[in-house]
Amino acid sequence: MSHQPDWTTWLTRWDTQQAGYLPDREDQFQLMLDVVHRLVDQPKRFVDLACGPGSISARATRRFPQAEIIGLDLDPFLLEIARQTTASDQVRFAEANLRTPGWDAVMGDCQIDAVCSATALHWLDPADLDAVAQTLGRRIRPGGVFLNADTMRLGPDEVPRLDALAVELRDEIWAGSHASGVEDWQTWWDAAAAEPAFAELLAEREARFADRWKGRDITLTDTIQSYRKAGFAEVAVLGQVADKHLFAAIR
Ligand SMILES: C[S@@+](CC[C@H](N)C(=O)[O-])C[C@H]1O[C@@H](n2cnc3c(N)ncnc32)[C@H](O)[C@@H]1O
Repeated sequence: MSHQPDWTTWLTRWDTQQAGYLPDREDQFQLMLDVVHRLVDQPKRFVDLACGPGSISARATRRFPQAEIIGLDLDPFLLEIARQTTASDQVRFAEANLRTPGWDAVMGDCQIDAVCSATALHWLDPADLDAVAQTLGRRIRPGGVFLNADTMRLGPDEVPRLDALAVELRDEIWAGSHASGVEDWQTWWDAAAAEPAFAELLAEREARFADRWKGRDITLTDTIQSYRKAGFAEVAVLGQVADKHLFAAIR
């Protein structure tokens, strides 16, 4: 019989590795779900955008047991971890490339009450961010909410000294985590690459991200402007540490 990886251990190891970059990650996730609850009560449809192995989705199933939850990502390997570790039939994971127009078609023809995302949208170029905000502006129902906990630069052109300071503080947080023994991103991926059972999914991942590029880092101003332009009624930052912001937008 071929060797079966222990998917739950890989998910736990992912969560630990990610918390090295966002030390209050668990609190952030719970706060995001609290905000969703306060603004829309029990969402009927909830999206975990760029879900990776489904960390937010898993927590959302516990908080919103009646909701239909959709996790979207481009990475076939992380999506497989999500599928293998999710027992709940209220969650559906699907492939979507946020840089491709029409990425939201996989959700079917529906309106969404809440979209949450973490440490992912900084992979996009500011132009992609604009397009994603426009799509979410059409998909999220009036009164629905978008929340994103992610790095957003303060702006090297707008506030160069404060921007550099925020990056310095962020790098110190990361260095502190790794000095205390938390596994870093590269080590996690190297370990996954050493697991023969993952070879096919990782090759597919390589192919899907081959054209990954970014003109420049997304700033907080880009984010605020994109969501205002996309028709969101209120946009604001609910929390910030260094260059990491919890950004909220009410449609
Ligand atoms: C650091 S991970 C965070 C995953 C998850 N949100 C979490 O907090 O554990 C960044 C995620 O963004 C996804 N991603 C990056 N670019 C993407 C794109 N163009 N379309 C969809 N997902 C993308 C990656 O595949 C990865 O799962």
